Amino acid sequence: MKKMNSYKIALIGGDGTGPEVAREGVKVLNAAASKFGFKLDFTDYDFGGARYLKTGETLPDSAIEEVRKHDSIYLGAIGHPDVKPGILECGILLKMRFALDQYINLRPVKLYPGVETPLKDKGPQDIDFVVIRENTGGIYTGIGGVVQKGTQNEIATQVMVYGRPVVDRCMKYAYEFTRKRNSKKKMLTLVHKCNVLTHCGDLWVRSHKEMGDRDYPDVKQDYNHVDACTMWFVKQPEWYDVIVTENLFGDIITDLAAIIQGGLGIAAGGNINPEGVSMFEPMGGSAPKYTGKNVINPLAAICAGGMMLDTLGEDKAAKAIDKTVTDILASGKIKSLAAGRMGYSTTQIGDMIAAAL
Ligand code: IPM
Ligand code: MN
Repeated sequence: MKKMNSYKIALIGGDGTGPEVAREGVKVLNAAASKFGFKLDFTDYDFGGARYLKTGETLPDSAIEEVRKHDSIYLGAIGHPDVKPGILECGILLKMRFALDQYINLRPVKLYPGVETPLKDKGPQDIDFVVIRENTGGIYTGIGGVVQKGTQNEIATQVMVYGRPVVDRCMKYAYEFTRKRNSKKKMLTLVHKCNVLTHCGDLWVRSHKEMGDRDYPDVKQDYNHVDACTMWFVKQPEWYDVIVTENLFGDIITDLAAIIQGGLGIAAGGNINPEGVSMFEPMGGSAPKYTGKNVINPLAAICAGGMMLDTLGEDKAAKAIDKTVTDILASGKIKSLAAGRMGYSTTQIGDMIAAAL
């Protein structure tokens, strides 16, 4: 008899509504596991603002070594109203991305049927693309410095750093992803600002073209400047299939992308190390004002769970979660994706998806 696949998952509920949405995600993941015949073994970790306020620790190095032994990481949300901005973001989220070399940020942008978009006259057939954001380089490396701080002459720099190997590995992932997605367009759009960033932009342009010409003749190549791209997201989102871009541009355009797919209640993402340990999370924050009220929407966390299963190789289970979410949204039962206006509680949505699976 074939041995049942079993996966060790590090579970970081985090702050605010993070644990509430993660709990529903776990419920759905376990339902998928029993239906598709694999096992998920969750280990709970309490990293987040509350622990930081108690102990002064964000993500100790020893914790990284522990988390590294898992097959994947599932995250609720990080962010605490009593902690100065930057501490938890840098100390937990960015530290994890760097330490585990999660060099891809994968953000599917899909308008599910029955979900409202702020874009006039656009529907699910128009909004269905994926953004692949480079996740560990660029301005996020933090290279730079400040002199004469606080004086009239203060100077600060923070440099966009990219090496060819870092660009190439991201580009390769993006081309492979586009090929595998195999949509009708089968097109990889590079988003950058090569008309001004003549060094970094040019590096990305050459990587895109040379790798595409050499290894992916079946994938169409396309290019947008990042400013123009924000305009096209609103005017003609149906143009896109897969987008690849550098870190900061990707950060910015994926917030715009999240809102056109219906907002943070549904937007999910993965911090992926294709050769290592990845981390999946809903895009929404910790939503302190809704904490403990059982009103926050867990769908983004549930979708992030689906992405995790896909990455673990349980693609049938991942597809089933996506289909269940699609069917429930299409049925119109859920009135809105906004917290408190769904017509259901957080736990009821989780129960509904788990049962429908
Ligand atoms: C994101 C977030 C993070 C980022 C912050 C919280 C550090 O905005 O995942 O998009 O800038 O990458
Ligand atoms: Mn962001």
